[in-house]
Amino acid sequence: MNSFAFQNPTKIIFGQGTVRQLGKEAAAYGNKALLVYGGGSIKKTGLYDQVLSQLKEHGIEAFELAGIEPNPRLSTVHKGIDICRKNGIGFVLAVGGGSVLDASKAIALGVPYEGDVWDFYEHKATAKDALPLGTVLTLSATGSEMNSASVITNWEQNRKLGYLSVHAFPRFSILDPTLTYTVPKDQTAYGAVDMMTHVFEQYFNHTPDTPLQERLCESILKTIVENAKLAQEKPDDYAARANLMLCGTYALNGGMISVGMDQDWASHDIEHELSAIYDIAHGAGLSIVYPNWMKYVYRERIERFVQFAVRVWDIDPSGKSDEDVALEGIQATRDFFRSLGAPSTLAEVGIGEDRIEEMAAKAVGFGPLGHFKKLEQADVAAIYRLSL
Ligand code: NZQ
Ligand code: ZN
Repeated sequence: MNSFAFQNPTKIIFGQGTVRQLGKEAAAYGNKALLVYGGGSIKKTGLYDQVLSQLKEHGIEAFELAGIEPNPRLSTVHKGIDICRKNGIGFVLAVGGGSVLDASKAIALGVPYEGDVWDFYEHKATAKDALPLGTVLTLSATGSEMNSASVITNWEQNRKLGYLSVHAFPRFSILDPTLTYTVPKDQTAYGAVDMMTHVFEQYFNHTPDTPLQERLCESILKTIVENAKLAQEKPDDYAARANLMLCGTYALNGGMISVGMDQDWASHDIEHELSAIYDIAHGAGLSIVYPNWMKYVYRERIERFVQFAVRVWDIDPSGKSDEDVALEGIQATRDFFRSLGAPSTLAEVGIGEDRIEEMAAKAVGFGPLGHFKKLEQADVAAIYRLSL
């Protein structure tokens, strides 16, 4: 096990009706808030009214930035930064899915920075400060509610880049599983795929002697597998939605399951290039890319793939070669994603081979990807081709 330091400052407020605690939590950060939300789902569900009344009740003036796109755009982040600066707003409140949370983090980081917030994402500068941020999560997927990451798309450059900053951890996140009852089937699938792949990025590594972390990963994966379909079949199944929500938060919160282990993240970078050009849902892209990454790299540490097949998919290894068991585990992963209705090929989402080399070159723009197997441009292109 590697040495590590782990600190996560986000306060999680979990359970049905917890939105009623919003005003009290937000009041700790002044009397002006920028309320950030997406394309309108929070208005349909009534959450918008609830949030506004909470803010009003606690004497907080609400300014609004609506219309955060799935795959949130830098141009929209700039608008939020302007509103905050013009109105002396000292607190950002994100109400929505990962895209809204990520855009809000970028706004919070951008307000006190004199340059363009995109500098952080291009590794040209390091954030020294941010406005405080609170969130109300409406979609279980990214883990953004309890982590320091944000992923922003510069649409003019077709670049989608992530940035991690200790200043971007939400101060609090309200996680009410009933707010996810209206998440449609496809987004429920993409969310499940996304959180599973977050675990994969941490689980497939070469670090020895990490049995606790491995079992934490495996238990999250099994819990997602048990609950994703239940949530799709019965969208208001509280237990299923609550379990998925907790899995999403645990899967990627800066270390809870991954302390002391190397991590990979190549597949995420490979997916981000797809979203940056074709604007597909992140989870849909991962559903296509991840099993092909697995096929490309499994021989690097076949025992981990055998362990995955046996412990997560209950595959019986008796009488089989390691190779066969590992491949069965990869196939089971693909079949599960497909059973949720998530795609398996680029063709299914209308993507051909014409821009593969461009995406592969951009993906390795900051150097080779991953740790489990270091991927150069040719490897990344090969994974895109396997995904056609
Ligand atoms: O915009 P609205 O109207 O709210 O609709 C959204 C959007 O169309 C809808 N939705 C959200 N909550 C809903 C709902 N519809 C009905 N009922 C609800 N309760 O769902 C659609 C997708 O929302 P989005 O926020 O884009 O989804 P997700 O949470 O999957 O976030 C994806 C983004 O997060 C990034 C991805 O790259 C992508 O840009 N990621 C962020 C990470 C992080 N911060 O740690 C890590 C991830 O790996 C990922 O890269
Ligand atoms: Zn992800």
